[in-house]
Amino acid sequence: MSNQTLRVGLIGAGGIGRTHLASYERVREAQIVAIADINEDLARAAAQQVGAQAFQHVEQMLEQVELDAVDICTPPSAHLEAALLAIERGLNVLCEKPLAHHPDAAREMVRAAEEKGVKLMTAFCHRFHPPVVALKRLIEAGELGEVVMFRNRFAGPFKGVEERWFSDKEIAGGGVLMDTSVHSIDLFRFLVGEVARVQAVVRQTNPAIGEVEDTAIALLATEDNRMGVVEASWSLAAGFNVVEVYGTEGVGMVHYWDGFKSRYKTLKMDDWQPLEEVGPDRFVGEIQHFVDACLGRAPLQVTGYDGLRAVEIVYEAYRVAQV
Ligand SMILES: NC(=O)c1ccc[n+]([C@@H]2O[C@H](COP(=O)([O-])OP(=O)(O)OC[C@H]3O[C@@H](n4cnc5c(N)ncnc54)[C@H](O)[C@@H]3O)[C@@H](O)[C@H]2O)c1
Repeated sequence: MSNQTLRVGLIGAGGIGRTHLASYERVREAQIVAIADINEDLARAAAQQVGAQAFQHVEQMLEQVELDAVDICTPPSAHLEAALLAIERGLNVLCEKPLAHHPDAAREMVRAAEEKGVKLMTAFCHRFHPPVVALKRLIEAGELGEVVMFRNRFAGPFKGVEERWFSDKEIAGGGVLMDTSVHSIDLFRFLVGEVARVQAVVRQTNPAIGEVEDTAIALLATEDNRMGVVEASWSLAAGFNVVEVYGTEGVGMVHYWDGFKSRYKTLKMDDWQPLEEVGPDRFVGEIQHFVDACLGRAPLQVTGYDGLRAVEIVYEAYRVAQV
């Protein structure tokens, strides 16, 4: 650590890598000092933006640059190798979701991080979405009573997904459930409780997609039958994208991308109130939390285990849906 600035190596400078890169600019205590991408042009262009060193291979980057942490933003099947290389060197790891393309790979990452005593955080950015943070606070304060029902819909058109790795089972590990419902499952675990049982129905709406599901519903239940519905699609027209939580004393709704206001209402209130926005945007919040945890300022709240559970639950959904 140089004067309490966390030196971070970014691995993968594609879509989300560039979002992370921009977010680090807003986190004072961290700096991207190196960037690795198998597409060297992308690595170079991103590195130029922030004055970092560019590499084509992760190993070269880890050998040549002194780092405190890495941030893995590659497609899922490449997460394990990069994570193990970093963990071996005692570096903390922030890894994009899904933690891996298969539960065994995710398990290996969690085990390696535990053995080495480094931090492994899964990048579940929605936990840091300001209205979700506010909703979590209301739940913790008991304002909604017992939370009994949950619904999360992340669905809309994903144009060109048939041309991307997202629909390649070998790389992604599955379809839309692996892509977006890992977020939903994590939100259920965060806002309601641990998943004890899963049911699922999946289908392919766009035949060009090939092997994987592009549309799905999963039912989640805790041991004591608090329940959730997760709805996901890449192939439907845009509609509501929401997280809804229903308790015995109140309800809360977080809206995404659809112009509706996130809001809540309890039995004691006459009218809906906006969910107060707590914290910066979800990517900055996520990275700030990782940095704080690495600098020993906060306990890590989203772990590798959380990432592993989400992948395990998606695989359980595939098993019961007989995919
Ligand atoms: N949290 C979110 O909201 C969110 C959004 C989008 C993507 N993601 C996740 O982020 C990850 C990346 O997704 P993306 O949309 O940025 O994909 P992308 O294809 O746009 O970018 C991935 C980049 O990784 C590089 N790469 C591939 N293999 C590599 C390797 N072995 N070493 C170094 N670089 C390698 C590619 O060249 C590419 O530039 C995935 O796990 C995805 O699920 C999360």
